Amino acid sequence: MRSLFLCFASLVVAAVQVASISTYDYVVIGGGTAGITIASRLTENKDVTVAVIEAGFNAEGLPEVFIPGFIGMGIAFTTLDWSYATIPQANLNGRTLTVNAGKALGGSTIINSMIFSRAEKEQYDAWGQLNNDNTWTWSALLPFFKKSELFTPPNVFQVANGVNYLPSVHGFNQSEGRVKVGFPNFFFEQSALWRKAAEFLGFAASPDLADGNPHAVGVAPNSIDAANNTRCSAACAYYTPFADRENLVVITNATVSRILWANSSAQGKLVASGVEFILTSSNETQTVGVSKEVVVSAGTIGSPKVLELSGVGNSTILKTAGVTPVLDLPTVGENFADHVHSWANSFTNITLTKDALLLNTAFAAEQKALWFQNRTGLYSALPRSLGIAAPSDVFTPSQLGSLIAQAEANLTHFATEFSNGNPALARGIAAQHSIALALYKENKELPLEMNLEPGYSGPTSFAARPARNYTTINSVLYAPLSRGRTHIVSSNPLTPPAVDPAYWAHPLDVAAQVGGIKLARRMLVAPPLNSIYNGEFEPGADKSTDGEIEDWLRGVVASDNHEVGSCSMMPQALGGVVDTQLRVYGTMNVRVADASIIPFPVSSHLSSTVYMIGERAADIIQGGKA
Ligand SMILES: Cc1cc2nc3c(=O)[nH]c(=O)nc-3n(C[C@H](O)[C@H](O)[C@H](O)COP(=O)(O)OP(=O)(O)OC[C@H]3O[C@@H](n4cnc5c(N)ncnc54)[C@H](O)[C@@H]3O)c2cc1C
Ligand SMILES: *[C@@H]1O[C@H](CO)[C@@H](O)[C@H](O)[C@H]1NC(C)=O
Ligand SMILES: *[C@@H]1O[C@H](CO)[C@@H](O)[C@H](O)[C@H]1NC(C)=O
Ligand SMILES: *[C@@H]1O[C@H](CO)[C@@H](O)[C@H](O)[C@H]1NC(C)=O
Ligand SMILES: *[C@@H]1O[C@H](CO)[C@@H](O)[C@H](O)[C@H]1NC(C)=O
Ligand SMILES: *[C@@H]1O[C@H](CO)[C@@H](O)[C@H](O)[C@H]1NC(C)=O
Ligand SMILES: *[C@@H]1O[C@H](CO)[C@@H](O)[C@H](O)[C@H]1NC(C)=O
Ligand SMILES: *[C@@H]1O[C@H](CO)[C@@H](O)[C@H](O)[C@H]1NC(C)=O
Ligand SMILES: *[C@@H]1O[C@H](CO)[C@@H](O)[C@H](O)[C@H]1NC(C)=O
Ligand SMILES: *[C@@H]1O[C@H](CO)[C@@H](O)[C@H](O)[C@H]1NC(C)=O
Ligand SMILES: *[C@@H]1O[C@H](CO)[C@@H](O)[C@H](O)[C@H]1NC(C)=O
Repeated sequence: MRSLFLCFASLVVAAVQVASISTYDYVVIGGGTAGITIASRLTENKDVTVAVIEAGFNAEGLPEVFIPGFIGMGIAFTTLDWSYATIPQANLNGRTLTVNAGKALGGSTIINSMIFSRAEKEQYDAWGQLNNDNTWTWSALLPFFKKSELFTPPNVFQVANGVNYLPSVHGFNQSEGRVKVGFPNFFFEQSALWRKAAEFLGFAASPDLADGNPHAVGVAPNSIDAANNTRCSAACAYYTPFADRENLVVITNATVSRILWANSSAQGKLVASGVEFILTSSNETQTVGVSKEVVVSAGTIGSPKVLELSGVGNSTILKTAGVTPVLDLPTVGENFADHVHSWANSFTNITLTKDALLLNTAFAAEQKALWFQNRTGLYSALPRSLGIAAPSDVFTPSQLGSLIAQAEANLTHFATEFSNGNPALARGIAAQHSIALALYKENKELPLEMNLEPGYSGPTSFAARPARNYTTINSVLYAPLSRGRTHIVSSNPLTPPAVDPAYWAHPLDVAAQVGGIKLARRMLVAPPLNSIYNGEFEPGADKSTDGEIEDWLRGVVASDNHEVGSCSMMPQALGGVVDTQLRVYGTMNVRVADASIIPFPVSSHLSSTVYMIGERAADIIQGGKA
């Protein structure tokens, strides 16, 4: 690790001296989930040179990164996190929320919860439908999902603890697969009780939560190296094994300030000629040249920021921020959406929950020692069971019918409201809503993830809550119709953008999230989970009507850090930013590839989908030859 840092340091020094003459075939902006995937695949060809410019550093050697149970400890949610602040949220009591996003080589996979599920087939198909392109559909994308992963099937112990999998949807190719995917080697008893309770309420047992049909309940796969129970981030998967490639240059602690444009355009389109960045340590500005393409992979908040700083965006917004417009593409940063997290939890008398690690320091020390000595124990895994809910699990037919009718009657109203005065985007959002509502009617849009946390999770700090053991059911709004935006407010690249997810701006979102809490409550007291139920803690007995639940939620819901859509893949007539080749409209050689291109929220945690995007992007750039 130390020699790796030294190597970066000398590289940075070299860049200082020869900055203006360093030219690469491809420059990737952001060494995160998608960015490092693309750089790694492109440099499999020794004749291709790639530079990756990453704001954070290589944090693979930190225990809070590689030990699954150390998630959130140390500097994970400080130095390694952009911690983007939202603007005050009008529908959430004016609260400012935090959207977490990894700031390190490997991006958000350095700090995420390692859940490795996929959304439903119909949503990937709708993505293709929206773009009139059948290469962005479930069956066309499945090979790229599989290519990214190296899957370890469950062992006898894991199968005995409820793990199912379907070999046909996973990647096993030892030479090609990169992200190590496996299952926890530790399970909490309450997870199994909860899965049975969900089945009691009508959920099917999932054969595999990555099979494109996640309306079911099961044990989540994890991005974990099953051989030694360590996190496998994008850096672990796509960088560390290839760090010595001479044609792959990674510049860390370097924040991209803008794309540099050639003075002459080609076919009336902008041509990128280089990338400018600021070295954190010295505050010096450097540039690298690019001979082929720039790939922007700075994440859903970082990518529109880089485009806007480069003069690509809404000219009014750019001028207000002090940036000279170069290309008027006013939907950059618009169409922004995020999943919304909420909880219901109860006290429990089951013997062992994750709370033990906080309540009993001697026990925690023992478990830590066990990880280091034996790679086992509570810190060796992040076991999660998920149940993805359909509308029929959340609403009665008459409630659903009336919510859909209202949403349809107000479709143009909301599409216009969310579009920031942009008529093309209003049509795009209307098209997204039409698709979502049609899927709602078929019971195929999956609005909520129910997720059993074997211990306390919720809005109350350890010090402020009863020192007891808990069962929590996370309920995550998975298919919000609300759309907001993220835009720069300054030409200073180090100034954070104004992030407005416009949480809960659509009434169907509010109804679904309230419904999620009611479903979570039904689960907590359904057999056999009721056998360990010792009373509800949150929301609490005083929140019984829908209105009371809604009011409570407005004060507590949080970001699930699954932001998408700010550089959406949609036709230009629908307000898109990139085409189905990921190329930014109006540019010759700039693509965006990361979660920002996902046009609408999909019903899953996102990392597996982002790796798929990275694999697909590399394949497109290589001309489909990969
Ligand atoms: C706390 C947390 C928990 C999560 N849990 C899960 C989970 O359990 N399962 C799951 O599947 N998903 C989860 N996610 C979501 C998932 O990890 C992300 O959606 C996904 O990794 C995003 O990939 P990306 O390539 O779009 O962006 P990122 O991986 O975030 O990469 C963007 C990169 O660009 C860099 N960057 C940004 N701006 C600049 C700039 N100006 N110059 C240079 N570099 C820049 C960043 O530092 C970062 O490295 C979680 C996310 C978070 C934050
Ligand atoms: C990058 O920044 C981190 C945190 O400030 C520092 O510890 C590290 O040494 C830096 N690495 C390089 C290569 O500059
Ligand atoms: C595994 O991937 C390699 C490299 O892409 C390929 O040559 C090989 O045919 C693949 N093996 C199988 C069994 O698919
Ligand atoms: C875990 O194993 C992988 C190889 O499978 C290795 O590269 C990595 O360094 C190991 N991590 C730790 C922390 O032991
Ligand atoms: C573009 O033009 C500017 C000013 O006219 C000049 O300073 C710059 O060197 C030119 N850049 C290239 C790549 O030719
Ligand atoms: C970094 O450099 C910029 C521009 O060169 C300057 O405006 C800024 O004040 C510098 N910041 C620090 C912390 O030195
Ligand atoms: C150490 O790990 C082995 C294999 O995973 C396991 O069988 C054993 O119980 C573990 N030891 C302890 C003390 O937990
Ligand atoms: C939505 O439409 C219904 C009629 O179906 C109407 O009563 C309601 O006020 C509308 N809501 C909003 C927020 O526009
Ligand atoms: C550009 O942004 C402004 C301010 O947010 C907005 O009023 C305007 O409608 C936007 N223009 C377009 C064409 O999207
Ligand atoms: C919580 O569980 C632990 C065992 O992990 C037990 O020792 C403790 O008594 C429990 N606490 C309460 C308040 O029930
Ligand atoms: C746990 O609490 C439930 C509900 O009060 C009770 O029925 C059950 O017997 C208790 N279990 C144990 C092991 O104490």
